[in-house]
Parts: sequence; structure tokens; C-alpha cells
Amino acid sequence: MRGSGCDAAPGQSGTNAYTHENHEEGCENVRSGWRSRGLWLVLAALVAMSLLVDAAAAQRQITIRIAHADPPDPFVAQKHAQALTFKALVESATGGRIRVEVYPAGQLGGEREYLEAVNLGTIEMGIASGAMAGFFPEAMVFDIPYLFPNQAVAWRVLDGPFGQKISKLMEQKTNMINLAYGEVGFRHFTNNVRPIHSPQDMQGLKIRVQETPVYVRLVQSLGGSPTPIPWPEVYSSLDQGVVDGQENPVSTIDYARLYEVQRYLTLDGHSYGVDFTVINKRFFNSLSPEDQQLIRRAAFTAARVNQGIKALNEALALNKLQQHMEIYSPTPEELAQFRTLAQQAVIEWLRTQIDPALIDEVLAAVREAEASFGI
Ligand code: MLT
Repeated sequence: MRGSGCDAAPGQSGTNAYTHENHEEGCENVRSGWRSRGLWLVLAALVAMSLLVDAAAAQRQITIRIAHADPPDPFVAQKHAQALTFKALVESATGGRIRVEVYPAGQLGGEREYLEAVNLGTIEMGIASGAMAGFFPEAMVFDIPYLFPNQAVAWRVLDGPFGQKISKLMEQKTNMINLAYGEVGFRHFTNNVRPIHSPQDMQGLKIRVQETPVYVRLVQSLGGSPTPIPWPEVYSSLDQGVVDGQENPVSTIDYARLYEVQRYLTLDGHSYGVDFTVINKRFFNSLSPEDQQLIRRAAFTAARVNQGIKALNEALALNKLQQHMEIYSPTPEELAQFRTLAQQAVIEWLRTQIDPALIDEVLAAVREAEASFGI
């Protein structure tokens, strides 16, 4: 009690009227004041500590839910391989502080539904291709028919300045951030009615397309009748004859066992599907800069796994499909017919949907990437 006068002997307090009893009583009041102030300080410290513990716990308990609509087998489905790799990288780098829950096989709906959830922030992440156009029409710039001659050129464009520009635009125009590009691959027509050698053979065929208008234009331009159907319903739609055909890469036709319900395959490679790896923008921006970097790195590596698994399965699938389907490779002249009809019609339409400069820029980026590979 230094400074309170309670250490001084009675009578030394400087007040003659101040008796021993008064002094003791006053000192007791001072002591009890200090005791209660001490108690408050201890309580305040405990509250502050518990808030700090809560904050630390909240930081430890981050959960990222990531959805896709492909099967839960990483060796056949590139999106699942990507999601599992992302999960392992993030969880091991954070010692489990950030948990990643993977929802495959359309558990959270088809692409459009789970992209809506990511855009709204009711889940954190998704991997999707065609349906992205419904949220971000500029995504269709990669769907221009016969844009990329091969995977190497596609990967260089996606990882280069043009791919980065499209990601930045998505961040500005939606509630989503594209963390990395994966691959759906080169798409081909299948059907149950007749072999398709040239666009004439497409006349009147009912073809299932992804939920994106650019594929509707593509099929229309070739004389077919397009029907958008979510991916989880494609097998049954073909099985029940709701549509005559569909279009997808060979490895997708293989893993989804579409050869069981489709007889003819035409290797026209009309477009190259891109997988976008998206995360809700508000969620991502709420993370620490360190966590953001960690997530970006994990997404980049996981997208490489997506591309690798897809490339491997593309290389292996054709042999398998040959046992089940009648496969036709169009001649250069036939391919030129597909290309001329589809590319012109889609580019013309796309110029009315997005900034036409983006179309010129992607064509220039492809030419540049081709030159870098000596094409
Ligand atoms: C589709 O046709 O909906 C997609 O190509 C399926 C997929 O992403 O695997």
C-alpha cells in the first residue's frame, strides 16, 4: 500500500483529528479498493486471454468445401485427382488448421448449382468448366471451336498473360477468383444414329451439350439440334433416348461408360474444355496473406495433377473405346468443313456477347504460343 499513507504510524498522517481507529478504517477501505481493482484486472486479463484463445481457435478451424460432379476416383477423373491433391497439400502445410472437404460426383448438384453456391459463398470452392459461362461469359473465349491445335499450346496460353487477364476479369466481374486452370480436354461427337464424317451427317441429330450457350451455337452451326443437360444426367438421357448424342473428350466417354449407350465416335476435336478452379472472393479475401499464398500454391500444383491425369487418360482411352465403339477420324478436308462452319458462326455470335477485343487477343495469344513451339 505504498503512497496510501497506510504504511505510516498513526499520528504521522499530518491531521491531528485523525485517530488510530480512523486511520485503520481508512486503510481497510483503501486495501479493499485495491483488492477489488486487482480482481477486476485479473478478470479483464482472463477475458482478454479467452478472446485471444477464441481468435486462435477460429483461425485453426478454417474449412474449405470443394465440389465437382465427376466420379470419386482420382485415377480416372481429373477433377477428383485435383481436389484430393489440393486437400493433401493444404492440410499438410497447415497441420490440419485448414481442413478441406471434397464433395465429388454431383453431391452438391451439377456444375451450375455448385458454381452458384461458390458465387453466393455458401460453399468455398468448385472445379467446373462449361457452366462457368452462365456466371462469367468471358470464359467462353476458350470454347472457340478449333482454337487450340494441341494441349501444349492450350497450357501455354492459359498460363500466360492472356489466361491471367481472364482470371483478373473474373475476379472483377463475379464473386469468384480463378485460382488455376485445369483441363477437360479436346471434345468429340458421339451418337447412336449414324457415323458422322462431315457436318452433313449432323443434320437433325439431337445432341446433349453443356449448360453454356456457346455449345448451343456450335451444334446449331453444324446442323444439329442442341439440348443442354447437366453432366450427372447425361448417361441416363442417352440411355433413355432423350438425346441421340453428346460431345466430350475420349477419357470422359471412357470413365463415364458412355460407350455403353453410344455407338459412333467422331474424333473431330471441335473444342478444348477448360476446368476453372474457383474460390469465393469474400472468403478468400478474409484469409491471411500467408494462407492466401499457400492456397494459391496448392491450387497451382493440384491443377497440374488435373492436367497430367487428363493427359494420361486421354492417351490410354482410345484403345479401350475401340473395343466398344465405331470410331471415325475425319480427313483434313472434312475437318476443314467442320472448322469453317463452326468457328465463323461461334466467333460472330461471341463478338455480340463479350468484348470483341478478347477474341482478337486470344487468337493472337494462340499464334504466339504456336510460334514458341515451332508450329
Ligand atoms: C460435361 O460434358 O459436362 C463435362 O465435360 C463433364 C466433365 O467435366 O467431366
